Amino acid sequence: MTQADRFLKACRREPVDATPIWLMRQAGRYMAQYRALRERYSILELIKTPDLATEVTMQPINAFNLDAAIIFADILTLLESLGLHLEFIKGDGPVIHNPLRTAADVAALTLRPPEEAMDFTLEAIKQVRRELDGKVPLIGFSGATFTLASYAIEGGGSRNYIIAKSLMYGQPKVWHQLMEKLAEAIGFYLRAQAEAGAQALQLFDSWVGALSPADYREFVLPYSKRAIELARGDSDIPMIHFGTGTAGTLPLLKEAGGDIIGVDWRIDLAQAWQQLGDDVAVQGNLDPVLLFAPIPEIKKQTARILDSVKGKPGHIFNLGHGILQHTPVEHVAAVVDFVHEYSQNTE
Ligand code: CP3
Repeated sequence: MTQADRFLKACRREPVDATPIWLMRQAGRYMAQYRALRERYSILELIKTPDLATEVTMQPINAFNLDAAIIFADILTLLESLGLHLEFIKGDGPVIHNPLRTAADVAALTLRPPEEAMDFTLEAIKQVRRELDGKVPLIGFSGATFTLASYAIEGGGSRNYIIAKSLMYGQPKVWHQLMEKLAEAIGFYLRAQAEAGAQALQLFDSWVGALSPADYREFVLPYSKRAIELARGDSDIPMIHFGTGTAGTLPLLKEAGGDIIGVDWRIDLAQAWQQLGDDVAVQGNLDPVLLFAPIPEIKKQTARILDSVKGKPGHIFNLGHGILQHTPVEHVAAVVDFVHEYSQNTE
């Protein structure tokens, strides 16, 4: 078996020669090569210029022994395609200048074909596939319904989601209309990424842990389910469904869909898998802050995670959330190589 197969085999819960590893947000500011490009281009320029998006996607692949690439894009560009004005402001993160607050705002959202509205990312996927030339598979992605709705309504990041939840509870009809539109936009965008050449898909519902299980079921689950069904069509492309703070909602995430469930570090990985059942694979779940710890500590905790799910096909090693800015690159190299060495199946 070669490195090219490991990730997709694990997605299908088939035995592998070593546990595959990739890192959420593996392209980014912790790498000097990325920072050098960012001196010349804005993040939206990097995303919207397929040559540059290809270069950035390849940076971590060329630097580390990762088992999968993820297309360089951002979850928020899909909101732009719907008519929202997105800006990344240095130090403040993303801002939506015309956030959704009323029924009329939601009615005005435009669902455009991804081939037209998201052509830059679809083109980048084609280019990256050519560049990778089969070395490792390419993951496409989208934000999921709740996380995208939270940015669209709040107008940016949020701590307590007071504006988004007020709309959800106070104007439930408007909420459901918004979620229907988002589900379609996400579903068609993911399907277009698969058609362009993405070999697995990840749905990032990063902030879904803000919801109670009952609210997730009522206000989000049907729409994430619809997005996943649309994305899949009748294909069997592996779907990773990821969220943070999901210890209390894991079975509901699975019910919404996904062949692989991404879990954060706030829950023991083996316990999470037990709750989920053997008919899904799992991805995770090292605390991203552990990559700032001394290498022996990183190895100890990585070994603990690997041991806890040993012998069960279908584990993809990852962090429990995206890699953080200022993470030491030599620690990234160490964890990637250690996962392969420690999990190597020499039978
Ligand atoms: O994984 C990869 O290498 C692909 C690239 C990727 C980016 N964003 C590029 C990016 C991916 C998968 C994302 C997903 C994303 N974007 C999520 C879901 C994952 C998660 O971490 O929860 C979310 C919530 C966003 C929204 C977003 N984009 C925020 C809040 C910010 C600002 C804060 C931050 O982390 O910088 C971004 C900007 C962004 N997206 C950067 C990168 C590399 C850094 C911006 C820069 O270069 O200045």
